[in-house]
Parts: sequence; structure tokens; C-alpha cells
Amino acid sequence: MKKSKRIKKSNSWKIKQHRDQFFKKSKTLGYRSRASFKLIELNKKYKFIKNHTNLLDLGSCPGGWTQVARQIIKSGKILSIDLKEMEPIKNVKFIKGDISLDETKSEVLNYFKENLDVIISDMAADTTGNKSLDSIRTNQLCTEILNFSKDTLKPKGVLVSKLFMGDDFIEVKNLAKSIFKKVNFFKPESSRKESKETYLHCEILKTL
Ligand SMILES: C[S@@+](CC[C@H](N)C(=O)[O-])C[C@H]1O[C@@H](n2cnc3c(N)ncnc32)[C@H](O)[C@@H]1O
Repeated sequence: MKKSKRIKKSNSWKIKQHRDQFFKKSKTLGYRSRASFKLIELNKKYKFIKNHTNLLDLGSCPGGWTQVARQIIKSGKILSIDLKEMEPIKNVKFIKGDISLDETKSEVLNYFKENLDVIISDMAADTTGNKSLDSIRTNQLCTEILNFSKDTLKPKGVLVSKLFMGDDFIEVKNLAKSIFKKVNFFKPESSRKESKETYLHCEILKTL
């Protein structure tokens, strides 16, 4: 077998191993998706979800992140939003909608009646087969949420969002730095090494 073919085969074996490892773990622990472990790692590092947190989960389907948030939050409200229908989770309000639309944004404010402690977004645009285009479209969602969080978060609020290390990464990073005092990037162990996915963690609005 040629060397390049051998490398490709060993890479796809590693990806499968990684996926299987977290898939099995999520089934054992009753999580709806492997993505749960990413939020567990993010929260272990930055500790932004607490008992009383009011939290908005964007791109929530099938519900792995919402499940993790629900396990921690006992007295705060949780609102989850996705384009797709999500199986209900006890004590979680779900809205099927597109967060890019003004009407969905208004529903968020109507539900909480006050500004939020935390927004988490694992939103990803539908894949087109063109990795560079997919990355740009997902980063546009991240940009949208950065702008939304300016008016929606409490002054000491936290935003955590997926983004890709694509050509527009610096643009998104600069936008985040223009809105928040603290901006960090973190790639959880449970996110595949080969993927350009990373997570943005921002806190304290610059207006404070
Ligand atoms: C990677 S999945 C999220 C997985 C989820 N965090 C979990 O733990 O189960 C990305 C989701 O983002 C949603 N999404 C993409 N664009 C959206 C938009 N404009 N508004 C709401 N949801 C969106 C997709 O429908 C998809 O379900």
C-alpha cells in the first residue's frame, strides 16, 4: 500500500476511534449527543453554568448541551432554540425557530423578561461539501450571536460559541474583543483534532 494511502487509512481509523469512544460514553451516561462532553469540558474550564443561571442554548438539537445545562441549573430558566424539532426535556422551554430572525430574538426577550446570564451556541450551518464555505457560514452564525449578546446579556454575562479556524477567524475574534473585556478560545478534547472547530468564551460586556 502507498504511504499516502496508509496515512489516510490510519487517520480515518483515529477519527472513527475518537467518535466511537465519545459515542459509547454518551450512550452509557444517557446523553443525546457526543457534543455533551464539549460543554462539560468548557464548563469545567470556565465555570459559567451555575445553579441559578438563566441560560439560552442555541442550536440545541438533539439536546446534549441542554441536558448538561439542566443537570446543573436548578433554579434558573433554560430556553433552547433550534431550526429542527427537539424532543422535550423536563423544565426546559423549547422554541423551533431561526435565531437570525427578529421574531425569534423577540421571543427570547419575552421569555426571560430580563437580560441573560449565559448564552451558549453550538450552531452549525448545514454542510454543503465545501469545507471553506461551511466554515464561513458557521462563523456568520457566531457573528450574529456576538451582536445579539451585546443587547441580551447582563453586563457580567457569558457567551460561549462554536466557531471555525477559517479565513474569517481573525474578523470574528476582533468583533468579540470589541464587545467583551475577556475573550478566550478553547478546543475541548472531545472535539476531533482534525476538525477546525473551536469554542469562543467571552465574558463581561465592554459597556460595564
Ligand atoms: C452541532 S448541532 C448542535 C448539537 C447540540 N449542541 C447538542 O448538544 O445536541 C448544530 C445545530 O445548529 C442548528 N442551527 C443551525 N442554524 C441555526 C439557526 N439559524 N437557528 C437555530 N438553530 C440553528 C442546527 O439545526 C443543528 O441542530
